[in-house]
Amino acid sequence: MILVREAIRRKKQDPVEAQGLATLNLYLGSFLILMSDAIIVTGGAGFIGSNFVLQWLRQESVRIVNLDSLTYAGNPANLLSISDHPRYEFVHGDVNDRGLVAGLFRRIQPGSIVHFAAESHVDRSILGPEEFVRTNIQGTFSLLEEAKAYWNSLPDAGKSRFRFLHVSTDEVYGSLGENDAAFCETTAYAPNSPYAASKAASDHLVRAYFHTYGLPTLTTNCSNNYGPFQFPEKLIPLMIHNALNGKPLPVYGDGKNVRDWLYVGDHCSAIRCVLHNGCPGETYNVGGHSERRNIDVVNTICAVLDELRPHSPHKPHASLITYVTDRPGHDRRYAINCSRIERELGWQPQVTFEGGIRNTVAWYLGHQDWVAGVTSGSYRDWIETQYAKRGGA
Ligand code: NAD
Ligand code: DAU
Repeated sequence: MILVREAIRRKKQDPVEAQGLATLNLYLGSFLILMSDAIIVTGGAGFIGSNFVLQWLRQESVRIVNLDSLTYAGNPANLLSISDHPRYEFVHGDVNDRGLVAGLFRRIQPGSIVHFAAESHVDRSILGPEEFVRTNIQGTFSLLEEAKAYWNSLPDAGKSRFRFLHVSTDEVYGSLGENDAAFCETTAYAPNSPYAASKAASDHLVRAYFHTYGLPTLTTNCSNNYGPFQFPEKLIPLMIHNALNGKPLPVYGDGKNVRDWLYVGDHCSAIRCVLHNGCPGETYNVGGHSERRNIDVVNTICAVLDELRPHSPHKPHASLITYVTDRPGHDRRYAINCSRIERELGWQPQVTFEGGIRNTVAWYLGHQDWVAGVTSGSYRDWIETQYAKRGGA
């Protein structure tokens, strides 16, 4: 099996052969995962993690075990539809609980682990960075240590099949100027926020565990996600929620910061693709080919709401846009060059920004109970702390 993978890796250098090989590689990868009967995910009750768990159960036949400590961002309601699914198990716990994690590896004997668990909001990292160090750096270290111990206990065949997939971000690369080339896998790290720095540190640890110990790691660096189940502290769900309630839409600075938006379902399919076919020790950038200025994103949301809620008293919703004090150290532009995953593994985003944003607004309109559930007490405290002094929402 290792020889087949090596042959494929060499052929991938040839762009003509790459596309056909992507299909073969997908089957090979699925076969390898199928040889084990479970994967573990961490942080599977959060935004991307829950979308991943749901997609996994629809698309794959292997059992999935979700380890999540249920912070403010973790929500069991995201996974209500599969709570009795025979191939799903939820384990409530912290990635820093080494005993728990070791016991889980022993009991589940996973073929892979996909590590989503993190503190993920840049603004929270500015107000309170310590939790980001504890979860994102120390937590990744704890998982790597326990994964290494488990991996060392496996027979050779199990060792070569095992994968540790680390889900990371494009923010580790820092900020681009208007005309700079998009981030590629060899762009130097230059994290600017405590969140980005904590993710960069975790990426470096993952890299070191491959190079030093041979642990078969994979890292994905992805751009901004959006879609169902995103906590309304992030730009897109916050704007939808505020607009529906006639509240100000707080745009930081001049609104011209650029992000490269990726529909969450496309991110989840990219992770599955890398898990099945990625080359151990490598990193893969994942993006949506959808660079947009923040103000344009907000105007698009407002236009979709005007159309879907024609009788809203808050129409035109764009009249709620309010420019507020900028985020400290606000990165100007992110853009992802994802030609590597496209060329070598045959993955491509399927959802356009316009289609994805329409789906997303419609999802939030249809899931106001979910929104009500996550915007109770502590959410209101956060909005108060975060925006009162900015002169916005
Ligand atoms: P999220 O904040 O919505 O969810 C994080 C999840 O991790 C929650 O379920 C939370 O309960 C869990 N968690 C936090 N600390 C934990 C701990 N110590 N032990 C166990 N579980 C813990 O995050 P998200 O937006 O879904 O992001 C998931 C991953 O993807 C993160 O690693 C993030 O850095 C990365 N990422 C996110 C984006 C994005 O746009 N959201 C883009 C690129 C990469
Ligand atoms: O690039 C990937 C990253 O994308 C992920 O690693 C992070 O986990 C994720 O949170 C996201 O980070 P951002 O800081 O880019 O996302 P956020 O939704 O917080 O902000 C997107 C842009 O919108 C950013 O330029 C700041 C701006 N913004 C955000 C909020 C919450 C506003 O103008 N107003 C707001 O109220």
